[in-house]
Amino acid sequence: MTAYVLVGTTAADPARRAELLAVARRVGAELAFLQLGSPGLGTVLTRLTGDGAARVVLVGVGGATGPGVSWLRRITAHWWAAYGAGAPELLTAPAYLTDETAWDDLVARAQPVTGAGPGLRSGAWEDVPRHRHQVLVCRGPRCTAAGAEETAAALVVELARHDLGDDVLLTQTGCQFPCNRAPVVTVHPDDVWYGGVDRAAAGAVVAEHLVAGNPVERLRLRRVAPGTTTGKAR
Ligand code: FES
Repeated sequence: MTAYVLVGTTAADPARRAELLAVARRVGAELAFLQLGSPGLGTVLTRLTGDGAARVVLVGVGGATGPGVSWLRRITAHWWAAYGAGAPELLTAPAYLTDETAWDDLVARAQPVTGAGPGLRSGAWEDVPRHRHQVLVCRGPRCTAAGAEETAAALVVELARHDLGDDVLLTQTGCQFPCNRAPVVTVHPDDVWYGGVDRAAAGAVVAEHLVAGNPVERLRLRRVAPGTTTGKAR
């Protein structure tokens, strides 16, 4: 039995579950998520294996703020190696699905990852990155509804424009709690919290804070120091 899985790979994909589920149903596939959404890819692969699938073809959907198509291949291979004996043959499509009409072509061109050997473990995943700042973009429900996907995309563009790829680690997260101030972005280790970070504000955070070293006070959220109740703000 061959099973098919449509895989949402970006942090934005769980928010469009209904849309992706409709696509998956039309093409006869299961839906899984690589990150931040349920069911996770490993859960779906384990279930399909238990259901007797001998072959599983995975086709991803991606975006500018998500991982490249090679990630789907590597993560699929890691699941296969960890599962061990009895794992089905796994194949991944060579490109992300951008148009539903391309489904059959992508499935036909899918390549096996089972036992493929070299290249499935990236050396880049061995070490902690040498960044100066980690920027956390909240992709919780309120921030996502308020445009955090555009915020993340703008940060990617601005960081590249300023050549900060090695200096700044951009990470998308679940709810960071000040939901009323969505979209929320935090910069660490500076412990600076920003609210209302739209596309223009994202540019300011990069240019003024990450490049020039000055937190953007007009966007900054009040941070109450640990151990206080009445509000000694940082
Ligand atoms: S959803 Fe972003 S802070 Fe809660």
